[in-house]
Amino acid sequence: MAELQEVQITEEKPLLPGQTLEAVKTHSVETPYGSVHFTVYGTPKPKRPVILTYHDVGLNYKTCFQPLFQFGDMQEIIQNFVRVHVDAPGMEEGAPVFPLGYQYPSLDQLADMIPCILQYLNFSTIIGVGVGAGAYILSRFALNHADTVEGLVLINIDPNAKGWMDWAAHKLTGLTSSIPEMILGHLFSQEELSGNSELVQKYRNTITHAPNLENIELYWNSYNNRRDLNFERGGDITLKCPVMLVVGDQAPHEDAVVECNSKLDPTQTSFLKMADSGGQPQLTQPGKLTEALKYFLQGMGYMASSCMTRLSRSRTASLTSAASIDGNRSRSRTLSQSSEPGTLPSGPPGHTMEVSC
Ligand code: BEZ
Repeated sequence: MAELQEVQITEEKPLLPGQTLEAVKTHSVETPYGSVHFTVYGTPKPKRPVILTYHDVGLNYKTCFQPLFQFGDMQEIIQNFVRVHVDAPGMEEGAPVFPLGYQYPSLDQLADMIPCILQYLNFSTIIGVGVGAGAYILSRFALNHADTVEGLVLINIDPNAKGWMDWAAHKLTGLTSSIPEMILGHLFSQEELSGNSELVQKYRNTITHAPNLENIELYWNSYNNRRDLNFERGGDITLKCPVMLVVGDQAPHEDAVVECNSKLDPTQTSFLKMADSGGQPQLTQPGKLTEALKYFLQGMGYMASSCMTRLSRSRTASLTSAASIDGNRSRSRTLSQSSEPGTLPSGPPGHTMEVSC
């Protein structure tokens, strides 16, 4: 591992209604695959993992996660955790364009940069929250460092390498579409793109006019060249920690996430398919996702049930019975409160939730 250096520290202080003043610091460390920027919110909480996020292609940590982490109800969750938001190389705000011929890291190499970040910050375990390419990177990291990952929230994960049919389709699309349009097609459903909502217009504008568009294209190429994660139910290559898979029911990656769910350990995996949600549920449905996240963290013993909202409590009850009706009684998560953080309540996780309110 390369020697770690702090390259930059800047202070930002976004103070939201109902939010206490928190330390915010941006850092950069050198790794064997180049430097990586990340932003740390909050101060260390003893005996707790940090929440580490990884964003999708075409986005950075803010454009991918700000609406979720600044959502009102999310504050009662995040006040209990330090958050480390990683920006893929060249995606941080103000990033210079890489020189022509620059060898951008593969997704596997991006995953291999994460230990440098954790070592630099002296954090030992994480709960990962990733979207798209970021979900793949965190999964690869979890496969290589199972002891470091206590839990994973994977939104829009596609664990498969592109097959030749996908490549043919990709090449054909490339003949008629620009890189920003292809990335938008990865982020949003066709219905959302043709509906051209304010959100889609905002992201179309941001990506099309991004000063670092060349860098974004490099991250896009790495995503399209990803290897298969080779998850195998009951096999050696699997995620060992609790996992919450999330996808919108109209998202471009719905089938991939459904297939991923079928390959993971059902006693460790919860599957949240969000109704009326497009490609970016963390942007369009932060309330539902916050509720599911609370439930997920409570299952891991990190949220006291007193923090659950009335809505969460009633939904929790209905989700449990829905899982039972599915015939998954033995797999449904037990919702008892654990006083010891990090101690899983009796009864393993594993169920399907369809949130439709
Ligand atoms: C956070 O509080 O973790 C956060 C704030 C702004 C953007 C992203 C995350």
